[in-house]
Amino acid sequence: MAGKPTFYVTTPIYYVNDNPHVGHAYTTLACDVLARFKRLDGFEVKFLTGTDEHGQKVEKSAQAAGTDAQTFTDRVSQKFRDLTKAMNFSNDDFIRTTEPRHIKACQALWQEVAARKTPKGNDNIYLASYGGWYSVRDEAFWGEDELVTGPDGQKTAPTGALVEWVEEPSYFFRLSDWADWLLEFYDKHPDFIAPNSRRNEVVSFVKGGLQDLSISRTTFSWGVPVPGDPKHIMYVWFDALINYITAVGYPDKTGEYAKFWPADLHVVGKDILRFHAVYWPTFLAGGGLEVQKRVFAQGWWTIEGQKMSKSLGNAIDPLALIARYGLDPVRFFLLREVPYGNDGDFSRRAMIGRINGELANELGNLAQRTLVQINKNCAAQVPKPGLFIDVDNTLLDAAKALLAQSRAAMDRQEFHVALESIWLVVRAANAYIDHQAPWALKKTDLARMNTVLYVLVEVERRIALLLQPFMPDSMAKMLDQLAVPAGARDFTAFDTALAAGTNLPPPQGVFPRYVEEQEGAA
Ligand code: MSP
Repeated sequence: MAGKPTFYVTTPIYYVNDNPHVGHAYTTLACDVLARFKRLDGFEVKFLTGTDEHGQKVEKSAQAAGTDAQTFTDRVSQKFRDLTKAMNFSNDDFIRTTEPRHIKACQALWQEVAARKTPKGNDNIYLASYGGWYSVRDEAFWGEDELVTGPDGQKTAPTGALVEWVEEPSYFFRLSDWADWLLEFYDKHPDFIAPNSRRNEVVSFVKGGLQDLSISRTTFSWGVPVPGDPKHIMYVWFDALINYITAVGYPDKTGEYAKFWPADLHVVGKDILRFHAVYWPTFLAGGGLEVQKRVFAQGWWTIEGQKMSKSLGNAIDPLALIARYGLDPVRFFLLREVPYGNDGDFSRRAMIGRINGELANELGNLAQRTLVQINKNCAAQVPKPGLFIDVDNTLLDAAKALLAQSRAAMDRQEFHVALESIWLVVRAANAYIDHQAPWALKKTDLARMNTVLYVLVEVERRIALLLQPFMPDSMAKMLDQLAVPAGARDFTAFDTALAAGTNLPPPQGVFPRYVEEQEGAA
């Protein structure tokens, strides 16, 4: 029997120089929703997240905190693991780059790459000396022509980070030999980089020519030693990217590697697309491995119009958001508010608007109104429908079409499109209940009342099934209220209608309204 189709999705691994904020939670959330969706859709999923623990930035943060690097990374990495619990993330693994399995994978890939030639027949790796500008904050090298000199003579990278002159012996990866290969690869794989605007940026960057990349450092020691030359440690990005294959068992190419590699999707922030769409494919191909299938670059959240940063003190702690608004409303808001891929602004008003407008009023009330009427007027059982008329079929068909629509949207990482199509049906169902007025039918036409209420619960069942990846706990409650058995909650049961006569539990609201805390309020 053929196995299930597989789906391997990864988040960036987070630097442990600082505590997690809502930007990090957002990235992992997107992957969680995809992973949950694919599991419900019959895939065997591997969903990976973790922490990026080497490099100068982390080493410096540890020094500033007065602790050794390992103790420091243990502490901060734990906060990212705690966040996965608090956000109800369903990751199957959590990788730390200080783990032995990862060091082993890094050294194996280094050796593999070093033993092979570039597409132009040169050695992939060579030893030379590096002299250039480095930004510790970005953990990136910058060309002289990319820098801006401030009035004080200080040079900064395009990201605004300070750069310093670095001069040291270094191993280089011969990236310059890979440009044509990359352009051909992008051509052959038009969906490799998304959204499309980002793809164009990457293609023009590569067309501009690529410089060889310094991939080892000698002036500090918090990293993976280069095999055969341990004075050198690997450049943190060379080390970090490899996490995606470490987690499937590389250098062992049987087992999970054979099953899940190449990864279906790396979700990253737009700031780190170049590393994933230019460097990583060449490291992989340089080592004779297959390249990941796709990279999606998401946008950035600002806070009430301002950049989120430690120095501005406005970085939002996801735990505080959850405490205030509840977990599922936060999960919903983040993916509903902004088209995925675009930048977004986080505002209290927008958050409360979505909670009260869409969750409490539209979805919550829809379910509540239907279930209260069934409870009172149908002996708390799924009513038996009569013949459907056009309005019924229109609504039922719209709900039925949502699975294919959501699948297509999720495969393009268009969460907002999936949610918008679901919400069109939520709104159509609200309009239907208002027009059909089952409460009035109760006095005039009981059979028709039963049909209307049946159509409504059937539509709500489909909506709840599809919203599970976004709001797992709330949708589990909603499906409980609709008495959908545990075994009928994946998408194979999407067309398995509720059976008339099924007993329904007493209705309970799923989404409370958010009431703004007021000064002096009790
Ligand atoms: N360690 C590297 C990634 C290595 S992956 C092999 C790194 N870490 S990071 O912690 O600085 O950032 C990771 C990701 O967090 C960013 O790419 C981005 O996706 C996300 N975000 C950080 N701040 C963000 C916002 N304000 N808004 C949205 N996402 C943001 O880069």
